[in-house]
Amino acid sequence: MKAAIITGGARGIGKAIAHKLASQNIAIALWDIINEGEATADEISSTHNVTANFYKVDISQYDAVAEIIQKVLDDFERIDIMVNNAGIARDGLLLRMKPEEWQSVISINLTGCFNCTKAILKTMITQRWGRIINISSVIGIIGNFGQSNYAASKAWIIGFTKSIAKEVAKRNITVNAIAPGFIETDMTAAIPEEVKSSYQKQIPIQRMGTPEDIANAVAFLASEDASYITGQVIKVDGGLVM
Ligand SMILES: NC(=O)c1ccc[n+]([C@@H]2O[C@H](COP(=O)([O-])OP(=O)(O)OC[C@H]3O[C@@H](n4cnc5c(N)ncnc54)[C@H](O)[C@@H]3O)[C@@H](O)[C@H]2O)c1
Repeated sequence: MKAAIITGGARGIGKAIAHKLASQNIAIALWDIINEGEATADEISSTHNVTANFYKVDISQYDAVAEIIQKVLDDFERIDIMVNNAGIARDGLLLRMKPEEWQSVISINLTGCFNCTKAILKTMITQRWGRIINISSVIGIIGNFGQSNYAASKAWIIGFTKSIAKEVAKRNITVNAIAPGFIETDMTAAIPEEVKSSYQKQIPIQRMGTPEDIANAVAFLASEDASYITGQVIKVDGGLVM
């Protein structure tokens, strides 16, 4: 049985990814900083009848990630799929942005992705099989008003993805990024309705995405069918950015 780590898996897109992979009989290690992860893991194991364990960890902390990966490997013996999904936004115009608002976004979105990928890479190399899927954003490609910290973190994820893809391709490990558009989750719940509807008008498919739209793309990239795809950025955005 294959096993996957999903960071930020307690809710939103990460939770949908966990459900989708579990529905394909993949065991789940759910990582998150919030306690809600415990209930999500229980829900996943009872719905799909697979092992789903919750590990509480702050992915921005290198030593904490190195420690938790050891626990996960003790529990699962192997990890085939790593989904770097955890992320935050701390929006504001650069003129008013505090250094801590810059730093927290970079530490979680980008350094967190580095910490988790580095922690799992040796295991995948030894297994001679692996799938790493990093959740970027269309904002990392086009930028956005008031999101310089978030856009920078998501653009860097794309450069990171392509570099690691080149480093490990001959080890039978693929590394890809998904760039979601506007997806209905807690992260976007605070956007005022009028702003949401103006975003919606710019989306050719005319609706916001669902966490399941992203989970379906992750499941494809994680599958055998995607074995010849690496170093790519797949936009899942209803056609917003072409
Ligand atoms: N919702 C969107 O429209 C959208 C668009 C593009 C990209 N994304 C990206 O998709 C990913 C998931 O976003 P979401 O919309 O589900 O957001 P969300 O806020 O609902 O979920 C993010 C999860 O990450 C966890 N997390 C935050 N900091 C963490 C840390 N330090 N260590 C461990 N876990 C941590 C949170 O607790 C939460 O469970 C993020 O990387 C986000 O940037 C979202």
